[in-house]
Amino acid sequence: MYAEFEVHRTMICDRVRTGAFRCAIDSVVRPGDVVLDVGAGSGILSVFAARAGAARVYAVERTSAAVLAHELAAANGVAEIVQVIHGEVTDVELPERVDVIVSEWLGGFGIDEGMLVPVIVARDRWLKPGGVMIPRLVMAWAALVHDRYLAQMVEFLRDNPYGLRFDDLVDKTVNEIFYSGTFHHLEAGDRRSDASQLWTTDAGLIPLGQAQAPHEAEMVLPVRGHGTANALALWFSAELAPGISLSVPAGRDMDELGHRASRRRLGGTRRAGGLGGDRRLSMRVP
Ligand SMILES: C[S@@+](CC[C@H](N)C(=O)[O-])C[C@H]1O[C@@H](n2cnc3c(N)ncnc32)[C@H](O)[C@@H]1O
Repeated sequence: MYAEFEVHRTMICDRVRTGAFRCAIDSVVRPGDVVLDVGAGSGILSVFAARAGAARVYAVERTSAAVLAHELAAANGVAEIVQVIHGEVTDVELPERVDVIVSEWLGGFGIDEGMLVPVIVARDRWLKPGGVMIPRLVMAWAALVHDRYLAQMVEFLRDNPYGLRFDDLVDKTVNEIFYSGTFHHLEAGDRRSDASQLWTTDAGLIPLGQAQAPHEAEMVLPVRGHGTANALALWFSAELAPGISLSVPAGRDMDELGHRASRRRLGGTRRAGGLGGDRRLSMRVP
């Protein structure tokens, strides 16, 4: 997926996400710093770091999107500062340790991109003592919802369409994970419970063993109002740097913002409108 340009364009055009990362990079990177960008993709965060005054930025990207990072750095006059490395961050050999590691590993609710482990491996190998991680804290949240498209699909399949039985497909459908980037349909009125926090990941402190272990959480989801719940919505809120946060709305925020404004900055007075980028997840429950 990340080899395709489209996904990088979508992330760049998500002004809330990208703008929040730029604010965090501007507030953390000091002139002369050395920065490692884990999973550089289009290279946008590396270019921000160079613009913020970094002396050197190592932009590590495993897919052919590394070409985009080269091009973006060259087009913005920072090709001398941004060194693009096409490869796995866990295999890479850098000539020095770094002051800052920046990485957009958030996915839908933090761990679903599978990037936490490589980020922590990179931290343990390359971050100087006292160095800074962006993001710092990532919280995962869940709430019960009613997903009407899921309900419609399941009803259709259970009705033996074309004279056929689809029991196995129904089972798979109700247990599938859907990114709401493809299914932009959850609305405030679809929520059936209060939000509950699953876990918090402190990227600066979490030991590698804990990052590698299965993430499990027990939670209480106080049901509100009437109606059927057929899915779990999962999302994140993150502190990218002190005072600079990023969140996808669900739970309480879903009420105020609806499902279009995908992320908003918390802890500040500015609120930006997103261009799309809603990556809330619906996890189906039988
Ligand atoms: C969510 S995208 C973020 C891209 C870019 N940093 C941005 O903010 O627009 C994550 C990127 O990390 C890359 N990636 C994931 N795991 C990686 C690894 N172990 N080593 C290097 N790159 C990795 C993916 O290919 C993808 O381009």
